[in-house]
Amino acid sequence: MRLNIVPGSSCIGNVEIHEASRVIELDAGHFKDSNKTGDGNGNPLGSKTGDGNVPFSHASLRAIESQLAIIVPCMNEELTILDGVLHGIPHECLIILVSNSNHCNFRNERALLSDFCHSTQRQGISIHQQDEGLAYAFRVAGMPELVVEKHMPQVKRQSVLRIRNGKGEAMMIGTAIAKLTKKQFVGFIDADNFVAGSVHEYCKAYAAGLHYATRYTDCSNTRTSSGIAYSASKPYAMVRIKWNSKPKVKDGKLVFEKSGRCSRVVNEWMNRLSNALGSDDIQSEVIQTANAGEHAMSLELAMKLRFATGYAVEPFQLIDMWEQFGTETDSYGVSYSTKDTAAPPRRKVQILQIETRNPHFHDISKGHEHIQRMQLQGLSTIYHSSLTPPALKDALWAFMTTDSTFDVQAFGAPEEARVYSPMKMMDFQAFRLALKAHADTVTVSGDAAFLF
Ligand code: GDP
Ligand code: CO
Repeated sequence: MRLNIVPGSSCIGNVEIHEASRVIELDAGHFKDSNKTGDGNGNPLGSKTGDGNVPFSHASLRAIESQLAIIVPCMNEELTILDGVLHGIPHECLIILVSNSNHCNFRNERALLSDFCHSTQRQGISIHQQDEGLAYAFRVAGMPELVVEKHMPQVKRQSVLRIRNGKGEAMMIGTAIAKLTKKQFVGFIDADNFVAGSVHEYCKAYAAGLHYATRYTDCSNTRTSSGIAYSASKPYAMVRIKWNSKPKVKDGKLVFEKSGRCSRVVNEWMNRLSNALGSDDIQSEVIQTANAGEHAMSLELAMKLRFATGYAVEPFQLIDMWEQFGTETDSYGVSYSTKDTAAPPRRKVQILQIETRNPHFHDISKGHEHIQRMQLQGLSTIYHSSLTPPALKDALWAFMTTDSTFDVQAFGAPEEARVYSPMKMMDFQAFRLALKAHADTVTVSGDAAFLF
């Protein structure tokens, strides 16, 4: 793969969001990494010179893919579509299917993944979100807020445990399992993507973007009074996919729409927040992926981030990164002056947005209400952030109450999304043991030893 990485970015505290890069070639050909830290044009990686084209060798992509777990959240999607999705995921990646489908569909999904892994000699894990043993494992590992007790008068024990419904919750399950398998990166791919080739491209873009972002050095320096202290460790990395277009049929013709209303609106308000947080007066539109369902990150970042419920999960990631890493305080709340030589170098968060080549064909029959809910949840994360200045909050509320899409006037404020604690505080040893002993929907294809 070859990306064109443009020099522009927005830096807020330790969070650097790069302007959208583009896929220049799906396959950059065969070459050896002669300059492992360069951009392929003789420029050191991260230097903002040259034409910005960065080729990624097969070996460098494979090195990331072998450390990448692709998590597929799935709720009653068509089996043939899920089948295509699985076939698009590069061979080296571990597949983790987290299903919240009905019983019969789950049985079929699980068999599909097992057969696919068997015939292609690869690793996969499937699990059901409502598995009581899984809920128990999260509870004993110190994440009880993810778990609810379901009242079941028809069974002897009266109530059973289960994980809350929602895509964000499914992503947490997949991430916790990826952590057990010791993978270094997680990526998310929706199960309702019609085109196996676009799934493949997204995964390649994850690998290329993560490779680039984890080695990016330009912004990972901390100025001190004695000069520049180099950050001791790699930056945290995230890649967010900007789909090329979302095709729709209009008057019998296929129209390749560049952006949907939901993304347009949520991106616009996210940019207004980003601009309000920035130190200069430049009004940028750097954020193009506020709702990016397709994204990947380093596992270390996934452990630190707070996941929000349902579809608030993706926009909330940006908010949470600014809240946690966007200020001049470290994660213990200690404030350091940039002149203080004793200040430990803090790790940067590098976020790449990558515009892909394939159109994003997915199931659009989920209804208008689904889109509205997604948009409202996205805007609500901005409304409720402690970072949002009062004037911006008022403007957002005025927008939401005058636009009939939202219907929030009666409530006084948009509903605040449930947000979970970061997973880094979980006891993963307890999680592993409880999962092994109690979860009965886990199926591991390949060598089960890598999980338990
Ligand atoms: P959109 O593409 O952003 O409009 O959102 P979708 O409704 O297509 O959801 C994205 C993915 O998450 C799809 O693969 C869904 O099947 C899946 N999904 C949605 N809700 C849940 C859930 O509660 N649990 C799980 N496991 N998957 C879910
Ligand atoms: Co979808």
